Amino acid sequence: MAYGKPESKPTQASAMEQLLIWLREDLMGELQAINQYQAHIDNIDDAEVKELLSHIRDDEKEHVAELTHLIARIDAIQREKFATDHTMAPEERVVGAEEGEALTVGSLFGKK
Ligand SMILES: [Fe+2]
Repeated sequence: MAYGKPESKPTQASAMEQLLIWLREDLMGELQAINQYQAHIDNIDDAEVKELLSHIRDDEKEHVAELTHLIARIDAIQREKFATDHTMAPEERVVGAEEGEALTVGSLFGKK
């Protein structure tokens, strides 16, 4: 599947795959933004500017968390990987097993 805007109207399954591709691209952008803000923070001497950029950087971290959770809600395999991540204690995982099991693609799109 190509990245970017699809050339024709997608089927329901491919629409979901396209949505996941876009969300993963959005996630990459947020991570790159964090690194860029951090690099600028590390190279700027002005305390006021550093403080503002630090605030913005932290907002980007919130966006990473939001996108990560959204992807996990839509992608069952990703959700399972978060729920069973052996590198983290269960209470420290991004998505808990109980939370992950309770959500489905259908439940996501029925919510506002
Ligand atoms: Fe952002």
